[in-house]
Amino acid sequence: RDETVISARLLEWYDRHARDLPWRVGPAERAAGRIPDPYRVWLSEIMLQQTTVAAVAGYFHRFTARWPTVEALAAARDEDVMAEWAGLGYYARARNLLGCARAVAARGGFPTTRETLLTLPGIGPYTAAAISAIAHDSPETVVDGNVERVVARLFAVRTPLPAAKPELVRLAASLTPQRRAGDHAQAMMDLGATICTPRSPACGICPVVDLCRARALGIAAELPARAAK
Ligand code: ADE
Repeated sequence: RDETVISARLLEWYDRHARDLPWRVGPAERAAGRIPDPYRVWLSEIMLQQTTVAAVAGYFHRFTARWPTVEALAAARDEDVMAEWAGLGYYARARNLLGCARAVAARGGFPTTRETLLTLPGIGPYTAAAISAIAHDSPETVVDGNVERVVARLFAVRTPLPAAKPELVRLAASLTPQRRAGDHAQAMMDLGATICTPRSPACGICPVVDLCRARALGIAAELPARAAK
C-alpha cells in the first residue's frame, strides 16, 4: 500500500533530516526509543500556535530555564509568566497556559489520552492530538497547515480549502502509522516547512516524490486550492 510506503519513507527521512528543535529529542535518543517530556511538547505547541518556529526558540529556552517542570510553572506568579510571555502576543493564551499548568499539577501530571487532554484549559483538538502523538506515541493524527498542504499534494485533492478539510483529515489519518506517530507527525510538518513549501516545492529532493499524485499531474505548486473570497 502506498500509505505504508509513504510513512516508512517519511520516518527514514526524518531520522536523517529532522530539524534540530529545542523541544525535540535528538536522533540517537530517538533511536533508543526516548520520547520528549509532555511539558515541553505542550509548551512548544502552545507557543507555536502564536508564532513561527524561529521566533519560539528563544521564548521556549527562557521558559524552560526558569520553569523546568509543569509543577514549577504552576507555582509561578501570574505577573512573572505574563512578563516572560510579552512579545508572543495574545495574552489570553498566557492565562490559559497558567490555568492549564495548575490543572495538570493538581491532577498529578499530564493526561495521556486525547480525550482527557481536551478537558484542560487552552487545549483544543490540534494540541491534544499533538501531545498525545509526540509525547505519548499514541497513533493520533496531527493536522496543521503544513500537513494539509502535503496531503493535498500527495493525493492530488483539488477541492478548495476550507471545504476540503474533512477529506484532508481523513487522508492524513490514513498515513498515520501505529508506531512512531509523533515522529511521523513531525516529519509531515518538517516536510511541509522545508521541502513541500507553498510556492516552489523542492520536489527534486522530496523523499516521496514518486508517490505524489500532484507531482505526477504537474500541479503540486497549485495545491491546496483555496476558495475565492
Ligand atoms: N509546528 C507545530 N508543532 C511543531 C513541531 N512539533 N515541530 C515543528 N513544527 C511545529
